[in-house]
Amino acid sequence: MTIMHTLNVDLGERSYPIYIGSDLLGQTELLTRHIAGKSALVVSNSTVAPLYLEPVKTALESGGFDCDEIILQDGEASKTLATVEQILDHLLRNRHDRSTTVVALGGGVVGDIAGFAASIYQRGVNFVQIPTTLLSQVDSSVGGKTGVNHPLGKNMIGAFYQPRCVIADMATLDSLPPRELAAGLAEVIKYGLIHDAEFFEWLEQKIDRLVAYDVDTLAQAVLVSCQTKARVVELDEREGGLRAILNLGHTFGHAIETVQGYGNWLHGEAVAAGMMMAVDLSIRQGWIDESVRSRSLSLLRRAGLPVSPPQDMTAEQFLEVMAIDKKSIGGSITLILLRALGEAVISTDYDRGKLLETLPHEAVGQTRDDLF
Ligand code: NAD
Ligand code: GLY
Repeated sequence: MTIMHTLNVDLGERSYPIYIGSDLLGQTELLTRHIAGKSALVVSNSTVAPLYLEPVKTALESGGFDCDEIILQDGEASKTLATVEQILDHLLRNRHDRSTTVVALGGGVVGDIAGFAASIYQRGVNFVQIPTTLLSQVDSSVGGKTGVNHPLGKNMIGAFYQPRCVIADMATLDSLPPRELAAGLAEVIKYGLIHDAEFFEWLEQKIDRLVAYDVDTLAQAVLVSCQTKARVVELDEREGGLRAILNLGHTFGHAIETVQGYGNWLHGEAVAAGMMMAVDLSIRQGWIDESVRSRSLSLLRRAGLPVSPPQDMTAEQFLEVMAIDKKSIGGSITLILLRALGEAVISTDYDRGKLLETLPHEAVGQTRDDLF
């Protein structure tokens, strides 16, 4: 086992460590350090379990835990209340009491579902995150957002619920398909755009190594990403304001995911296209210059990501979904835009006409007035 970096998320009594390293999964001591009680339920899916369940189970059993498992169907389409109910049924049928620990082993989908189930089972049981995708290591496993999708909107049902620890084992990325690695890189690039121009520059230098799965470079990217995320969450755990900057590109991206059907565009892909739309609108506002567009385009493309929305999506479709985004209050769409490379703003005072210029132009049968 090599722990390359340990980082603390400082939230008072809800504080927890993030371990970033290699070959961490089978480490009894690391897991048991953060698990009280005598039993654990590992929640994983049909792709990840055959690869990584065994070492986790063995580690837990060696630590003296009764270790139970539930294997979900893979895919964003399973991120539903019905799946949460399946986990709750399993916990009850197998007599897990309030001292049990739910261990999420998988990507962001497994982590979000398992975390939400942990938050409501008997009003909340311990929860541990073992993220196995780059996206979940740099974003979804940290910060306590848990939940599921509703047919009318992404992540519309959920809770803030912090894990006891996050174990990010870089060795799990070996088996991650390149398309999924790229999706994770979208969230990594996001941190550069919203907060850290120096990190963005570092990414421009290192992107080829990242795409080539270089472990040390990936671990460094995970560390810097988690540092930014942890600091933002520490300042605004429940998204009263600042935390919304982590959603650069997400309002556009969630519309893409919802309209295309969950799972057809990967979350990171939709965020990448959404970030370019946010960059476009920020340029139209006169807040940033064209160089941010060309640098972002180049970096996202080199990461293997889409840089524009699906061709068949209309402005009307975007606006319909964006209006029920969680950041929207009273139907007014809040967007995360850029004032500079490395400086995000939460904005409702952008020009509506400019937003329409950013959205696809051919909303068949619609005039601009119809769209607001
Ligand atoms: P995912 O969980 O669907 O994982 C992607 C694919 O990779 C799946 O098929 C999965 O089975 C597979 N996989 C996972 N680990 C693997 C491994 N090591 N080797 C091989 N295959 C592996 O998707 P994701 O990108 O990890 O997460 C996306 C989800 O996260 C979305 O639902 C999104 O809304 C959510 N999210 C949540 C937050 C948050 O703060 N809670 C933040 C960002 C994204
Ligand atoms: N991924 C956005 C957040 O955690 O707030």
